[in-house]
Amino acid sequence: MNDSKKPPLASAIPQRKSDRRSGADRRSGVERRARDQPVDRDNRVGQRRRAGDRRSGRDRRDETGWQTVSLDAAATAPIGPEEELIAAAASARLRAHARYSGFRVGAALETADGQIITGCNIENATYGLTLCAERVALVKALSEGHASFTKVVVVADTASPTPPCGTCRQMMWEYCGDIDVIISNLDGVLGRYRLSALLPLPFDSRLLE
Ligand code: THU
Repeated sequence: MNDSKKPPLASAIPQRKSDRRSGADRRSGVERRARDQPVDRDNRVGQRRRAGDRRSGRDRRDETGWQTVSLDAAATAPIGPEEELIAAAASARLRAHARYSGFRVGAALETADGQIITGCNIENATYGLTLCAERVALVKALSEGHASFTKVVVVADTASPTPPCGTCRQMMWEYCGDIDVIISNLDGVLGRYRLSALLPLPFDSRLLE
């Protein structure tokens, strides 16, 4: 496959020599634990949070229709401050049940009315029943009655971005619409995308009408 034919995400994620790990992070448990300190949310919450664009992803999905958003444009688009959301995802990550992969992920969904619902990955000995952090946050939010979302933050302890898997993209598209997807590690934001850029040509309810 030549570069022009590669899917956009592959070319969007920087490939550094040090990132050529397969699967889970291969650092030792000691190195990992040294960075897994709880985030002090109380220092971050509240005042700095602004309303931002609170139209839900669903509203914005309808707005864009079948248009997809250029990945580069989406990745550089300025969006509101998200420190609290990132801190919440980082804290949720510490509650991950990731004994098989050792790869802990946290997610935080922002609802249209500014609430934050978190999730972490929950693994299972059958492997296939594993739930990603994003889907845990989503089903928690839906089951608590939230129905309108603006952003999701995904936090993992990796040098390059950890994007939502295909299943999570599909689930988020169904229930969140075209939300902002912010990918962060423990040091800061690595990428910002619109979900439509990560899931071009989606299969969704419009095809069943
Ligand atoms: N995982 C997530 O929770 N979210 C992602 O975006 C990527 C992968 C989890 C699933 C599994 O527990 C572990 O990471 C390794 O795949």
